[in-house]
Amino acid sequence: MRKPMMAGNWKLNMGPTEAEALATEIKQLVSSNGVDCVVCPPFVSLPAVAQGLAGTGVAVGAQNVYHEDSGAFTGEVSAPMLLGLAEYVIIGHSERRQYFHESDADVNKKIKATLKHGLTPIVCVGESLEQNEAGETQSFVSGQVRGALDGISAEQVVSLVIAYEPIWAIGTGRAATSEQAGDICGNVVRQTVAELYGSAVAEQVRVLYGGSTKPGNIAEIMQQADIDGALIGGASLSAGSYADMVRITGEVYGAL
Ligand code: PGA
Repeated sequence: MRKPMMAGNWKLNMGPTEAEALATEIKQLVSSNGVDCVVCPPFVSLPAVAQGLAGTGVAVGAQNVYHEDSGAFTGEVSAPMLLGLAEYVIIGHSERRQYFHESDADVNKKIKATLKHGLTPIVCVGESLEQNEAGETQSFVSGQVRGALDGISAEQVVSLVIAYEPIWAIGTGRAATSEQAGDICGNVVRQTVAELYGSAVAEQVRVLYGGSTKPGNIAEIMQQADIDGALIGGASLSAGSYADMVRITGEVYGAL
């Protein structure tokens, strides 16, 4: 059975002082209970959060990375610079694709750089509302998965995490129904991995859902066979709601 994961994406929130306080609350409230817990603060807050959560069951991730290790790339942060501060890296979030013009090729390079340094990528895919309404979800999401995984070995694929996040569900309060989310996570994301690497490999890859998850809808989402966790935005900024989501996920899995 794949181990469930609750990953919090703090986005452009929580500078070092606030992040340290949130990490302290998380430490007090979160009991990982068979769930892989990850929080992803902004770069500048990684040291405070890594220190605050050291020795707890909660791991730390970055929200982005540059594909080169070093050099004349003003403003960027590389994978080797994250070692000791983060174990995971969110790659290709729709906000990065939309506002910072990251392409599937960029995402692919970042995944390779991340894996090269022993960090675990959380690779995001997901369609826009227009694509969804035009019936293009399956082909678009499958294409994103193929683009992200180009040149990645089967051995590497089993270690990474893919998050399906329909753009229309992010930060809107309008989550996909659990059936819709389960369908795309299974019949598109995992199925595409199976087409590329075979079903034995695809069965090992963790697929998360993201988009307006919260304590009130996480149990239903986690009951879907092909959903292995959530990438949580807004609800991860409160230690109480994040801890509730971890607890509920542990209960759902414990009962399976
Ligand atoms: P949300 O964000 O939970 O606030 O919808 C999810 C995400 O962008 O990862």
